[in-house]
Amino acid sequence: MPPTLDPVDVILEKRRGEAHSRERLAAFVGGYVRGEVPDYQVAAWLMAVCWRGMSERETADLTEVMAASGHQLDLSAFEHAVDKHSTGGVGDKTTLVLAPLVASLGATVAKMSGRGLGHTGGTIDKLESIPGFVATLDEERFMRQARDVGVAITGQSGDLTPADGLLYALRDATGTVASVPLIASSVMSKKLAGGARSIVLDVKIGHGAFMKTEEEARALARAMVAIGRHAGRNVRAVLSNMDEPLGAAVGHALEVREALATLRGEGPPDLRELVLVLATEVLEATGLVAGRTEVAAALDDGRALARFEAWVAAQGGDVSALDALEVAPDAEPWRARDGGVLRALDAERIGLAVARLGGGRRQKGDTIDFGVGATVHTKVGDAVSAGDTLLTLHHRGGRGLEGALAALAGAATIAEAGEAERPPLVVGLVR
Ligand code: URA
Repeated sequence: MPPTLDPVDVILEKRRGEAHSRERLAAFVGGYVRGEVPDYQVAAWLMAVCWRGMSERETADLTEVMAASGHQLDLSAFEHAVDKHSTGGVGDKTTLVLAPLVASLGATVAKMSGRGLGHTGGTIDKLESIPGFVATLDEERFMRQARDVGVAITGQSGDLTPADGLLYALRDATGTVASVPLIASSVMSKKLAGGARSIVLDVKIGHGAFMKTEEEARALARAMVAIGRHAGRNVRAVLSNMDEPLGAAVGHALEVREALATLRGEGPPDLRELVLVLATEVLEATGLVAGRTEVAAALDDGRALARFEAWVAAQGGDVSALDALEVAPDAEPWRARDGGVLRALDAERIGLAVARLGGGRRQKGDTIDFGVGATVHTKVGDAVSAGDTLLTLHHRGGRGLEGALAALAGAATIAEAGEAERPPLVVGLVR
């Protein structure tokens, strides 16, 4: 930290509602990562940011400073390097379908992906339910596979955006998570360090999501798209509904099976739709396609499926085992108490129920049971009768079942017939 930077000045500057220069942000965040600025001063600054906000330019500068705090992937060898990010959904197995689909159309997906914590599963954990799948690739193998297969996904390395790791943990402990510039810079620092030129963001809205209203989700999407513009990347955002799980499957092995079904043309319509919207956005952004027809064709004629199998095999996964991924042997139906029309099925509670069965982590490093999960039988807008099975929990000998059923209490909102409509899945686009 240069001797001229006093962290208290930075805190006071933000407390007065003034914008920081890029140099000050770099010195402050850099000082924090090096252990020269203590947690308590950064915590005070984070709280000031929550109240005073940040300008578009300032948010972009903060993001670039965070991205530069560690290793950055150089994907310049790939003309059409693309990335996709979801702000976190329940039953969201979109990446498993989208990555091979866009690769089959000429894009490269060389992606670092997170593990799940809390009520949403991570892509890497889902992939690990495939026997043999290697989720940690060294950089040489990762780049070779990206070149040869068009898809390589590896667990996030500790060197990527260390500033975000530190700031996120501190935000979690100080009630400063919920701030648009802080969330936007956190998400986008990882995307910028990830190296792709074209990025599509799936910003979820609803019970199961970080952003509970369309207005909040739109503000976050705009902030992230603006960061991309400042950083010279093509970023587009899709706002999508998370008032119910995506598709029918929640839980690792069940979700891989559903992704496979979607690649075979047998998946649930909402998952297929979201994949097509996101894939079309990112392929248009990188200039590979003009419109959705070409994208749908690659999903329908087996090109995306072939690429999925090639990807799984390249990462050591047993392709012949895909149709027989182990699902927990015991089933518990969860039934509707009343009849009417299903108006909401709280995705967050379903995610929590699956976590209680052993399908989630309470803290980093916990092991997870890939076989447990839930199958959802009704979508919002469907008519139901009292006693109908709304979902089935897949458990192992009752382990965690009581907690899972408690988590589900009140998860279904059922209205008298005629009152509910099927809500749109894609609520808006920000380009
Ligand atoms: N996800 C992130 O990566 N960062 C946030 O701040 C919130 C959600």
